[in-house]
Amino acid sequence: MSDTDPKPDLPPHPALTALRTHRNFYGRVHGKTLRPSQKIYLANDLAELRLRGVSFDENPDRRVLDLAKLPGQGEIWLEVGFGGGEHLAAMAGRYSQVRFIGCEPFVNGVAMLLGLLRRNPVANTAIHPGDARDLFDVLPDGCLHKVFLNYPDPWPKARHHRRRFVTPEHLDPLFRITVPGAEFRVATDIPDYARQTLEEVPLAGFALVSDSGVAWDDWVPTRYETKALREGRTPRYMTFRRAETRPQR
Ligand SMILES: C[S@@+](CC[C@H](N)C(=O)[O-])C[C@H]1O[C@@H](n2cnc3c(N)ncnc32)[C@H](O)[C@@H]1O
Repeated sequence: MSDTDPKPDLPPHPALTALRTHRNFYGRVHGKTLRPSQKIYLANDLAELRLRGVSFDENPDRRVLDLAKLPGQGEIWLEVGFGGGEHLAAMAGRYSQVRFIGCEPFVNGVAMLLGLLRRNPVANTAIHPGDARDLFDVLPDGCLHKVFLNYPDPWPKARHHRRRFVTPEHLDPLFRITVPGAEFRVATDIPDYARQTLEEVPLAGFALVSDSGVAWDDWVPTRYETKALREGRTPRYMTFRRAETRPQR
């Protein structure tokens, strides 16, 4: 069984076709067995919250999405790799005048977010339960005002650094889909990840605004941050601002 095949404990639900991608995805898409309640959230709630037209099955021609169909009103903020969804759920509750998109290929994380949203429902959030790159393909130019990348997968081995999010494969499309002046926030506990972020993100057209050990005023600690602190690592919070034009590579 490959990583992208559904595991037998997953409910056969069309919403999960959004997990399929034609790209190489090296992270995990399944963790330990889902709790019965989580299977119910995936079967019953995801269809309602899922952003349509992102998967290759649904949109083989990669047509640009009509974002007027997103729930809520206002600016659009994106969280890439929301993990268990603590940050996304809390931000969506706090900023009800903003529309949120969260993407996360790890199905257990999607189920955790759905559980949080059952307890504290919001009306301004859409989920892409898959790879951010598939989402980037179909988002219109300049549609995002803020982007969160919280504790991205570190890929510590040097030969795997090209899998990191802070590479042109991700950052160039991110430049296209963000509005000039958009904020891009990156939190990491891995010094070498911070190094690559500070090198690569400005090259992609996002100017450094701040690089701090102190979190943003509205920061919501995530599971990975809690783990990092428990294990003695130090968080870095970096803020970038999207330029008008991209520098020549
Ligand atoms: C280290 S975890 C951090 C999760 C969460 N942000 C937190 O702080 O607890 C990184 C997350 O990024 C997700 N991820 C990795 N590659 C991704 C991609 N291409 N698109 C979207 N999410 C991705 C992983 O599935 C994983 O859940």
